[in-house]
Amino acid sequence: MGVKSAALRAMSVFTTPIPPEEYLRLVNPLASSRQLRGVVTSVTPETPTSATITFRPGSRWQPHQAGQWARVGVEIDGVRQWRSYSLSAPAGADPAVTVTAIGRVSTYLVRNTKVGDIVFLAPPQGDFVLPAGPRPLLMLTAGSGITPVMSMIRTLVPRRKDADVVLVHSSRDRTASLFTDELQELAAEHPGLHLVHRYTTDEGRISFADSGDLDRLCPDWRSRKAYVCGPTEMLDAAHALWERTGLPDTLTVERFNTALAPEVPGGGGQITFEKSDKQVEVDGSTPLLLAGEEAGVIMPSGCRMGICRTCLTPLLSGRIRDLRTGETHDDEGELIQTCISAAAGPVHLDC
Ligand SMILES: Cc1cc2nc3c(=O)[nH]c(=O)nc-3n(C[C@H](O)[C@H](O)[C@H](O)COP(=O)(O)OP(=O)(O)OC[C@H]3O[C@@H](n4cnc5c(N)ncnc54)[C@H](O)[C@@H]3O)c2cc1C
Ligand code: FES
Repeated sequence: MGVKSAALRAMSVFTTPIPPEEYLRLVNPLASSRQLRGVVTSVTPETPTSATITFRPGSRWQPHQAGQWARVGVEIDGVRQWRSYSLSAPAGADPAVTVTAIGRVSTYLVRNTKVGDIVFLAPPQGDFVLPAGPRPLLMLTAGSGITPVMSMIRTLVPRRKDADVVLVHSSRDRTASLFTDELQELAAEHPGLHLVHRYTTDEGRISFADSGDLDRLCPDWRSRKAYVCGPTEMLDAAHALWERTGLPDTLTVERFNTALAPEVPGGGGQITFEKSDKQVEVDGSTPLLLAGEEAGVIMPSGCRMGICRTCLTPLLSGRIRDLRTGETHDDEGELIQTCISAAAGPVHLDC
């Protein structure tokens, strides 16, 4: 028996009839042997549709590296919903996420979170992180894609005199742009940070069709280690440019969305969620995860884009299509990622 479980057993003498874990949770809401939690310590509005939420995490939280992300869970209408968010705080600080309200969970987080709320957390992960040694950097971001890069800039620029960072950030206009004041202050104090704000309402989007825009915005871009985070089209276009230039290894991409294969006609079918005793009819492009959630099935989820594998669920029978590659599978008992799989005929799932 571990020291912790021995202690919990000893405590039960004093806490009966409340189980010791529940008692600990009353005294310290971050204490749980099963689920990592955080208590919200501040909520800072950033733009009319986004806010930064900072947490004091439980003791089992592993400090994040600048640029990493974590899964955050909240209970909405009694159902725990998980989404992934980049950690915008610098390495070494309490974790913070900067959320833009675009859908169900993000809108809930931005509009309803209050200091003192408890959220569920999963450990930080991801390899969109700073290089091991000092290197000239180019950060290309758009919209909420600036969040992991903000963590990198906050970590690097004030601490390293040799920092050499060019940030090219696109947003609709000044009002929609995240962290503008702080970035301008940092750039004024630290000559190693050079800022280019691109307001697309006035100037249009940066083109990656050829290197013309980049040559103008950051003439030595080819000699910099580059990071890019933003909408899928921007990431795909930047990736293609770096490939064409023969520099793919110098570009690191962070995606908030999955790149999907082109839709195929047909597909779809009836999904049976065996344990929940529910059935739904879906088309061939709806992720099984979404179909289940909409039918009220409690399904594990995390990144919702095929990275974290939190959503793995046994396929009891039927054929499914991987929405990223278009490939189909029908191996009974196979663990499938419900967030990037759709029905390609009748499907039975073990959830
Ligand atoms: C590694 C990673 C890091 C992330 N970091 C951040 C972050 O720092 N800040 C942040 O606000 N979000 C971030 N996201 C996105 C976040 O996880 C959610 O996808 C987002 O908040 C939408 O969830 P929702 O429940 O509000 O929307 P849902 O109700 O699930 O979806 C609403 C609709 O919005 C679409 N959608 C989902 N994401 C986006 C998007 N990014 N842009 C445009 N449309 C979208 C969906 O396809 C859907 O049609 C990150 C995602 C990943 C995988
Ligand atoms: S939810 Fe992360 S892989 Fe499916």
